[in-house]
Amino acid sequence: MPIPPDIVARVREASDIVEVISRFVPLKKQGKRFVALCPFHSEKAPSFSVSPDKQLYYCFGCQAGGNVISFLMAHEKMEFTEAVKYLADLAGIKIPEKRETQKETERKAELWQANNLALDYFSRCLRNEGVGKPARSYLAKRGIDKKTVDTFSIGYAPDMWDGLIKYARSKKFDLKILEEAHLLQRSEKSGDLFDFFRGRLIFPIHAISGKILGFGGRALKDDQQPKYLNSPESPIYQKRTVLYGLFQTKDSIEKKRAAILVEGYTDLVSIYQNGFDNVAAVSGTAFTLEQARLLSRFADEVFVLFDSDQAGSSAALRSVEHLFAAGLEVKLIALPAGEDPDSLIRGRGPKALEELLAAPLSFFEFKERQFGKPFPELTMREQEEFLREMADLASQIGGLDRRSLFVESLVQHFKLRDETVRGFLKRRKSTKEKAEEKISERGEESIEVEFLNLLITRKDFIPEAKKTISPETFQEPGCREVLGSIYEASEEEGEISFQDIFELASDQRAKDAILRSAHVDFGEVSPELLFEDYLRKFKSREISARLRKLKRAVEVAEKSGDAVKTNQLLRQYQKLKTDMAGWKPDQGVSGS
Ligand code: UTP
Ligand code: MN
Repeated sequence: MPIPPDIVARVREASDIVEVISRFVPLKKQGKRFVALCPFHSEKAPSFSVSPDKQLYYCFGCQAGGNVISFLMAHEKMEFTEAVKYLADLAGIKIPEKRETQKETERKAELWQANNLALDYFSRCLRNEGVGKPARSYLAKRGIDKKTVDTFSIGYAPDMWDGLIKYARSKKFDLKILEEAHLLQRSEKSGDLFDFFRGRLIFPIHAISGKILGFGGRALKDDQQPKYLNSPESPIYQKRTVLYGLFQTKDSIEKKRAAILVEGYTDLVSIYQNGFDNVAAVSGTAFTLEQARLLSRFADEVFVLFDSDQAGSSAALRSVEHLFAAGLEVKLIALPAGEDPDSLIRGRGPKALEELLAAPLSFFEFKERQFGKPFPELTMREQEEFLREMADLASQIGGLDRRSLFVESLVQHFKLRDETVRGFLKRRKSTKEKAEEKISERGEESIEVEFLNLLITRKDFIPEAKKTISPETFQEPGCREVLGSIYEASEEEGEISFQDIFELASDQRAKDAILRSAHVDFGEVSPELLFEDYLRKFKSREISARLRKLKRAVEVAEKSGDAVKTNQLLRQYQKLKTDMAGWKPDQGVSGS
């Protein structure tokens, strides 16, 4: 649920961007601003600038920029609400508990009740002498014992179309709620309800609080598709935020400050039963940053123990990015070919897993194994691709120190030269760099940006500007939009601030324009003089554009032999040239 906008505004106003950014980046005071080496790209001279009076930051190199909230989002990879909460904490502002509507609360409560009812049914079925037989023999075959079944509340959905329906009826439970909880499904043909899970071993998925969010169902028969059937997402089950088993294992994880991350229900249950109780599992979805953050509440290091196949090791490597971003220490385990954690432990015993966990691979070692040969033996192209990938990854790592450490160990591990790696890090921002180059070509745009600064800081200049320069005069679309917003905002009472205009901006180009304009430094030059100078510049720019157009028109008219028209156009041209003299800046204007 979103934080109310007035609270967001209060939190932002109570925060000092310099104070907050300096927690992560060493800032140096320079005149009215603070500067630093940009934390968003690598550079030798500082082009990252933080303005305390405007409460905005901007990098002239890579054009990263924003306010205190966007900084936390970009640098610390926080979500918006998370960033606001972080700042509220610092400022001692209490964010009112999210007020769910009565209806939402009731609906969630109903879904939980439905899941509880279903679990009750699944557990009874598993225990039932006759009904539960196929599931119990499946469990026996897979070596899952009674204690583990109890710990994880494993159940059984018998192969029936209306088992749960009958059970719910006997409990006078509303079938509609079971349908909403995706425990019942409606036949498209007949419109009748039937059980969603049939003929499956059931793994309930718990929230950290112990509430049941949904279920995963393992097919008992080999030909049954899909192998695992999962509850879909619902108001109470958002897959990207949940780790299977964590409810049961979080205390062990916390005690060891280490977690083993596996890929599925059975892997988790199997290694848990064999004494590896600090384990959590992703279940059928890609590992997310939210899940990494969740883990980081209990663990400092994570052992990634995914399947040995190609899909497994790719997934393992992809999880690394989020684990790094959540500040976790990452160890990777490479399983012998063809094995998953469950098959390994059942085939070779707990000792085999213990040995693997005792000799984990670093990220780079794991990578190297994936290459199948030492780094120097890779082709140039492969090396290049790899370093590009590492540069991307490095940029994902929050915190400058951690990032430097990553780069350092990359250099050491592959015996690379510092400069080589730094080259890749630099080139990574090539798209940004291209934009940067464009800017230096776009002198005109800088003028527009500077002019915006003048108008925002001096509201009294706006009426005069409005008379002389229309937004269409501006060439850069972002600046054009911002100028329009400034004109609009000037109709209202009160001062105009960079923050206000920033929030009005509809697209990235406009945002960039505001951020750049907020960081323009005119030094000691008088704003009045500057303003006049800019007015002239724009006016003459506009006139020379019109002159260029007229000149072309004259040429066309001459060619077509239309003397009357030619004369008419020439007169217009002359008049404009005279007008121009009044607006002419110090230097001559080209194009005339
Ligand atoms: P695997 O195919 O590796 O299965 O899927 P597994 O965990 O080894 O299971 P067993 O040993 O064959 O019983 C790994 C995980 O991916 C999800 C499940 O969470 C599973 O545990 N998955 C897999 C699905 O959600 N649906 C599927 O059809 C298959
Ligand atoms: Mn398996």
